[in-house]
Amino acid sequence: MSNICRVSGDPLELVVDFGRQPLGNGFLNQEDFKNEYFFNMQCGFNEKSKMFQLINQPNPEIMFHENYAFFSSTSNYMKKHFYNFYESIINSDYLSNDPFIIELGCNDGIMLENFANNNFKHLGIEPSKNVAIEANKKGVRTISDFFDNSVANKIIADFGQADCFISANVMCHIPNIHSVAEGISKILKTTGVLIFEDPYLGDVIEKTSYDQIYDEHVFLFSAHSVQYLFSNYNLELINLEPQVTHGGSMRYTLAHKGMYEINPNVKKYLSKEKLQGLDKVETFHNFQSKIIESKNKLLDLLNSLKKDGHQVFGYAATSKSTTILNYCGITNDLIGKIYDTTPIKHGKFSPGMHIPILNYEEFKNEKAKYGFLFAWNHSKEIIEKETHYKSQGGHWITHVPEVMAF
Ligand code: SAH
Ligand code: TYD
Repeated sequence: MSNICRVSGDPLELVVDFGRQPLGNGFLNQEDFKNEYFFNMQCGFNEKSKMFQLINQPNPEIMFHENYAFFSSTSNYMKKHFYNFYESIINSDYLSNDPFIIELGCNDGIMLENFANNNFKHLGIEPSKNVAIEANKKGVRTISDFFDNSVANKIIADFGQADCFISANVMCHIPNIHSVAEGISKILKTTGVLIFEDPYLGDVIEKTSYDQIYDEHVFLFSAHSVQYLFSNYNLELINLEPQVTHGGSMRYTLAHKGMYEINPNVKKYLSKEKLQGLDKVETFHNFQSKIIESKNKLLDLLNSLKKDGHQVFGYAATSKSTTILNYCGITNDLIGKIYDTTPIKHGKFSPGMHIPILNYEEFKNEKAKYGFLFAWNHSKEIIEKETHYKSQGGHWITHVPEVMAF
């Protein structure tokens, strides 16, 4: 892909440049350092589609495979969030008497298990085989494939059309988005709805949370860009509901044109986005300047802690941390190790900067007084869990909404 908008086909303007980056979830063993994959991570914007996007993205098969490192069920808060999402769907007016629910990118089944446990007809589509196996083990019927228009045709032939097509933190990962949108428009019954949520461009700009940008996130959506994209397939936005998850997300509900009343939130957020400048390229040039400012402040803080003899550790080896570490050039003299709860990451090294990933169990022996909260989006859950660390004089470091230690 060259500098062409994946949605409108018009030229993209380069707005943010992160330089050479590894895979966000490319945790690796020492013997693989020499063959590590890197790509040039630059972002572009197009004022016609209003879509903020990566200019180049690694091939999906390089990112999503049988050793995928992200398991959704590592967060208890997200389990509750997806239970609430499930409840909002079953209590909605969108379902028929015998509804069929399809989820795009169901991962280890964190959301669909709620439908499976309550005997709803459902189907998950999940290309990363290891997490799809976990979903199937939980009784979630899952096929392992990359969803697109041709997979949609197969699903319609084998299972029929859906009442509700859902996804969370997946749509923004898929480069061939036109094929996906076309498939969804066919797979939905006349009364069917598409409900999906993803990290919201408005929050990323407001908080300078540039770590939401990494290889997997080819798009950062707004109400404007979602409306533009899906209108090509006669799907219209009928509701917008902001979410606190992943540092600020938006839930989009779409239906075949004219089928449902449009919630006033649609107008409200479209106007708000205009005020925030999410439809204008200058906003994103300005974003680049704020990212540089944030990087410099973070390096100043880490360097001064090092000068004072502090050893800083990282808490949670998120994919977001890959962007911070590599873009800021944070080597293991500034952050010496990262604790994480995911078994597949233990004993490996962080992508690009090669900081060792330790089993979270070892965190209880940690004596250092400063820890970088890489999962800042889960800060409520983590701070509540780690009151002991704080009461013993420990501090957290974050870069969102500004660089600070607290
Ligand atoms: N929904 C989960 C997982 C998000 S991670 C949650 O919110 O926690 C993104 C997931 O999208 C990964 O599991 C990845 O394998 C999946 N994915 C990537 N491309 C896909 C595609 N074309 N079709 C379906 N799933 C896809
Ligand atoms: P998340 O922000 O969802 O990650 P990403 O940036 O990859 O989307 O955080 C998930 C990661 O954080 C996962 O590697 C597990 C780790 N984690 C912990 O180690 N401890 C915790 O308490 C939580 C909530 C997450």
